[in-house]
Amino acid sequence: MDITALRDQAIEAIERAKNAKELEEVNKIYLGRKGKLTQLLRSLNAMEAGERRKIGAAANALRDELHETLEKKQELLARLELQEEARQNRIDVTVPGKRLPVGHLHPLTHIQREARRIFESMGFSTVQGNEIESQHYNFDALNFPPDHPARDMQDTFWLKQHRKGERNLLRTHTSPVQVRYMEQHVPPFRIIVPGRVFRNEATDARHETNLYQLEGLMVGKYVSAAHFKGVLEEFYREFFHTPVSIRLRPSFFPFVEPGFEVDMSCVVCKGGGCSTCSQGGWIEMMGAGMVHPNVFKAAGYVPGDWQGFAFGMGLDRLAMMKYKVHDIRLFYGGDFRFLRQF
Ligand code: PHE
Repeated sequence: MDITALRDQAIEAIERAKNAKELEEVNKIYLGRKGKLTQLLRSLNAMEAGERRKIGAAANALRDELHETLEKKQELLARLELQEEARQNRIDVTVPGKRLPVGHLHPLTHIQREARRIFESMGFSTVQGNEIESQHYNFDALNFPPDHPARDMQDTFWLKQHRKGERNLLRTHTSPVQVRYMEQHVPPFRIIVPGRVFRNEATDARHETNLYQLEGLMVGKYVSAAHFKGVLEEFYREFFHTPVSIRLRPSFFPFVEPGFEVDMSCVVCKGGGCSTCSQGGWIEMMGAGMVHPNVFKAAGYVPGDWQGFAFGMGLDRLAMMKYKVHDIRLFYGGDFRFLRQF
């Protein structure tokens, strides 16, 4: 075949190649081991000198040209491929976003915040205490006698004693903050203390070693148990969105006198009796009472100068009532099937 025709054919084939594979094929047909141009170059030896020089020069030039053209085409195809890829990967900013899974507050945190909101709306300030307490604030200053069973190893998590002196413990209630606060402030005041407390006891549906309380303390010249009842009724009405009856039963806590246990009419059956309230119509919600003179004394007050009420409600119990949860341990199990419901 004549070299010019071979060239036209080859160039056209290169132009026609639509992708790297087709281009490789063209390369093979003309420049491969058995390629048309390769064969022509090989046949040069058999030619006579004059013709060999003429055709040889043209064939060599064609080989260089084809190499160069192939290379250019290769680059072009690579560029086109990149462009196509970019086109396919284009980000469509109009596609609606994917929702990221977000968590939510734990039900006990909800309850604590809601309780805070209500008490703060009645003028109470929120105060924090320590989870590690001294024997003094957890027991002595609260008028616990030295042999009180609450001080027992079985009820309280005691910490290792490091230096000589008092032994610390994980607070068993939020009441120690009463004295800590009174040492630093002069009445009148009203405070709440939400926080975590610890009990060394066997767990069951109503008991955990770790629970949350909300302490309340209101002290002034004429603060009475009637104020306490009023504040509490208002709190429950707001919290449960329905009027709730309250019952005070005499009870004993060393740091109050008189002391009471506060029952609330069952919100599930409205007092008629159901399984939640063990058919009684009432549910025990907290301990409370009028601050004991010895507690005022421990805080450095002159007892006759002031009077006030204190209460300590279990937030877990409150959450159980609000959400109708029958086992306190569910709050601490970390089971998503439970937690996702809130
Ligand atoms: N601290 C008591 C408890 O944990 C509750 C309480 C608080 C009782 C304040 C009376 C006054 O059981």
